[in-house]
Amino acid sequence: MNAMNQEQNNVVQIFDTTLRDGEQSPGASMTVEQKVVIARQLEKLGVDVIEAGFAASSDGDFESVRRVAKEAIRPRVLSLARAQEGDISRALKAVEGAKKPGIHTFIATSDIHLKHKLRMNREQVVEAAVKAVAYAKQFTDYIEFSAEDASRSDPEFLIQIFREVIRAGAKAINVPDTTGYAIPSEFGALMANLIERTAGGDRVIWSAHCHNDLGLAVANSLAAVHNGARQIECTINGIGERAGNTSLEEVVMALRTRKNYLNLDTNIHSEQLYPSSRLLSQVTGIAIPINKPIVGDNAFAHEAGIHQDGVLKHKQTYEIMTPESIGIPGNRLVMGKHSGRHAFDERLKHLGFNLNKEDMNRAFVRFKELADKKKNIYDEDIEAIVAEEILRVPGRPDKFELLYMNVNSSTDGIPTATVKMRVDGGEKMDHASGDGVVDACYKVISKITGSRSQLVRYSVNAITAGTDAQGEVSCLIEDDGIRVSGQSSHTDVIMASAMAYINALNKLAERKHYRQVVEKAGP
Ligand code: KIV
Ligand code: ZN
Repeated sequence: MNAMNQEQNNVVQIFDTTLRDGEQSPGASMTVEQKVVIARQLEKLGVDVIEAGFAASSDGDFESVRRVAKEAIRPRVLSLARAQEGDISRALKAVEGAKKPGIHTFIATSDIHLKHKLRMNREQVVEAAVKAVAYAKQFTDYIEFSAEDASRSDPEFLIQIFREVIRAGAKAINVPDTTGYAIPSEFGALMANLIERTAGGDRVIWSAHCHNDLGLAVANSLAAVHNGARQIECTINGIGERAGNTSLEEVVMALRTRKNYLNLDTNIHSEQLYPSSRLLSQVTGIAIPINKPIVGDNAFAHEAGIHQDGVLKHKQTYEIMTPESIGIPGNRLVMGKHSGRHAFDERLKHLGFNLNKEDMNRAFVRFKELADKKKNIYDEDIEAIVAEEILRVPGRPDKFELLYMNVNSSTDGIPTATVKMRVDGGEKMDHASGDGVVDACYKVISKITGSRSQLVRYSVNAITAGTDAQGEVSCLIEDDGIRVSGQSSHTDVIMASAMAYINALNKLAERKHYRQVVEKAGP
């Protein structure tokens, strides 16, 4: 395809990197099972490419890429690899079970990276890139090449290295704004210049990979496709390193809503955007900001009287897209105490959860417990149960388990908490006081578990409306350079808080155990 044809082709490929760059967000690490669940949803959403991980970075990542590769039917599955033979072999091995496999190899091209990080000159970088692509080409037909920090690189050097890797067999050329430094008009012009002047550039698909440090990732991605790129790399909810990556739902809806201006569209089934966003948030515990475009709670809420009046008279006065188009459900009342097994199973299927019998049973028990406490059960409650009971179960039995908890709070007394826990099979009980009951609970849990971790973030959200709503608690803890998040939901927010903390401590124990195993195994 030449650049002209590329511009005439009005479908922009969506390359999802939630499982790779997205997972690099603090607290977003996912288990293999969780990644498989997300990958299934990505396929349902209609993404064209899934970057499933960085196979050479750890055994866990290798396994995730391998499992996702086996699952995916329509999307291409890639693994990231540095421009080194060892990384590429590992990436190739991980994707070999995919219907459409490929690898994504990269090397930095900016002078600052060459001098301080790679300690290589330009000639050596071109040589390494070409060697990597040529090596991969012997085993796979689909190779994407990225010039890390492209937006701060010399465009003449980009033209040179891209020409050489295309000659060696690269099929997709990615232009990353690694540090989120670019300005839309500048990034668009860079893309146009590269497409126009790179020899062989008419045979490849040009891709934009933007970070959001200046809040411009979506705008830069749109500028890139407006100037001839036909692939956008993005993540659900915009999660990713530092301020995140281009948000998939925002860029897709911008293309769809402004098709009249950009004349471009994607293969995304937009009514799966909201379910995908919710699922990722449930799995990672990273809350969606209420004012987040497209999927935030307030995205379609009209507060000002003048706006409400306008929307009531004619929706399009203040609404440029509909909530239904992105799959936002009404707060539908689905079930209660008297709902039976069959209705529950049906509802789960309707929500897109295809659980096996054992998981279905576990979820049903939790549903019944909740129905005893809460009159009306909404879809969001069921999602929370599935997320907690099934999606967050670690591979090994939990090290810590809550057995009993009693808290006291009054207008004139000091808040206290008494907690009994199972720790490595034995039982331990203790009590503590604190600034509030949550503080008291966290102190006593730290005492019992002997944890020295720091609480980095703590947040509570009501899943639905009403005073009997389930509170969803998410916390982020850090110990010895490891950051993990914990989540839980319960009609009692203090219980949810304690369980979220214990969930995080269990994950931390898993990660430390894994680190020890790797250290013992040596290099
Ligand atoms: O931001 C970046 O440069 C990357 C590359 C590995 C594509 O994530
Ligand atoms: Zn990136």
